[in-house]
Amino acid sequence: MKNRSILFAALMILLLCLYGQGSFAQGQRAKKAAPAKVVRLAGAQAWDCAACHRTQKVLPKNHLDIQEMPYVGCLVCHLSEEGFAGSLKGKMPGSHLHAFRNVQCAGCHGREKKPSAVAKSRCLDCHGSAAAVAGKTQNTKPNNPHDSPHYGTELDCNFCHHQHAGSEDYCAKCHKFNFAAP
Ligand code: HEC
Ligand code: HEC
Ligand code: HEC
Ligand code: HEC
Ligand code: HEC
Ligand code: HEC
Repeated sequence: MKNRSILFAALMILLLCLYGQGSFAQGQRAKKAAPAKVVRLAGAQAWDCAACHRTQKVLPKNHLDIQEMPYVGCLVCHLSEEGFAGSLKGKMPGSHLHAFRNVQCAGCHGREKKPSAVAKSRCLDCHGSAAAVAGKTQNTKPNNPHDSPHYGTELDCNFCHHQHAGSEDYCAKCHKFNFAAP
């Protein structure tokens, strides 16, 4: 307990030093990047944005250097929607969130020479049963995205969670639940 509060205090001081200039407070965002071909470099480190995005700016200007940073490091600032820097859910394609958890291309695609669609069963190999996934979001408001009167727990993950594009809220075709899928 004591160690945690010391750690927390140290992190807060770090934050104040890093952002004392208030540049983030003005809500600066990276400009829409000039076209530069992004590549899916297998084996790139999750934090090494430039390995794949090259000259494209994918982090806001003045973002701290994230070299070698593990995902728990990101969460110091990106812990929740309400937090200091907002959650990272939905801010990067799912493959990125997985790369930060050491799930690389082969974790989903196996050894396919030409990677293609990934079966839901592959997702569930790691995430447990569909019911277990639904259990994790049973308190999500206003409804559980993983368990509905129409589809039960059977919807394909890729209806909402995209691994190579921004995720979407499939239920929004008919409802206004405003789900934010990571
Ligand atoms: C010291 C605090 C801090 C840490 C640690 C941090 N970030 Fe950030 N990050 C910020 C702030 C502040 C913003 C700007 C938030 C905004 O514009 O609303 C930001 C924005 C971002 C954005 C753009 C989000 C958007 O709204 O478009 C991405 C992507 C991002 N960070 C990724 C990461 C990743 C990945 C890590 C870990 C490897 C990380 N950050 C670690 C403070 C941090
Ligand atoms: C968390 C699982 C996951 C990870 C990790 C992942 N992918 Fe995929 N990938 C998918 C899914 C699901 C699809 C099919 C749906 C789609 O196109 O979004 C796909 C589709 C593809 C496709 C064919 C369709 C397309 O969009 O081109 C290629 C090629 C591909 N992935 C390459 C990669 C490479 C290279 C990596 C590592 C840098 C990677 N994937 C990491 C899940 C994943
Ligand atoms: C090799 C194991 C593995 C595979 C395969 C895998 N995941 Fe994951 N996934 C993880 C781990 C580990 C995490 C981070 C811990 C967690 O949230 O369970 C994660 C996190 C997630 C998250 C939450 C992301 C966040 O940052 O909040 C979603 C959504 C997700 N996975 C969906 C999928 C989908 C959809 C597929 C199939 C296309 C898939 N996963 C395949 C291991 C895997
Ligand atoms: C109808 C859209 C939708 C479908 C389909 C869907 N999800 Fe989700 N998922 C969401 C939303 C929305 C959240 C965020 C819930 C929240 O933040 O409370 C989420 C969150 C998650 C998380 C993070 C849970 C946590 O809080 O730890 C995982 C893991 C996940 N989904 C995996 C899956 C897997 C695996 C499948 C396929 C079996 C799947 N999802 C199908 C919408 C969906
Ligand atoms: C392994 C290569 C790779 C790495 C490493 C990587 N990206 Fe990406 N990123 C891609 C690819 C490829 C796309 C386009 C979607 C796809 O095909 O997966 C993309 C898409 C994105 C998008 C969505 C862009 C849009 O126009 O909608 C964001 C945001 C993003 N990346 C941020 C980041 C950040 C931040 C980092 C570093 C923390 C990072 N990426 C690291 C390959 C990578
Ligand atoms: C094609 C349109 C359509 C889609 C897509 C859809 N629904 Fe529905 N949903 C309906 C209709 C129509 C009703 C019945 C409305 C009524 O009787 O009030 C309904 C009723 C419901 C109800 C019970 C009443 C309520 O509004 O609370 C829930 C819960 C629900 N849907 C959840 C979901 C979830 C979660 C998803 C996404 C996984 C989803 N629905 C996707 C059309 C849809």
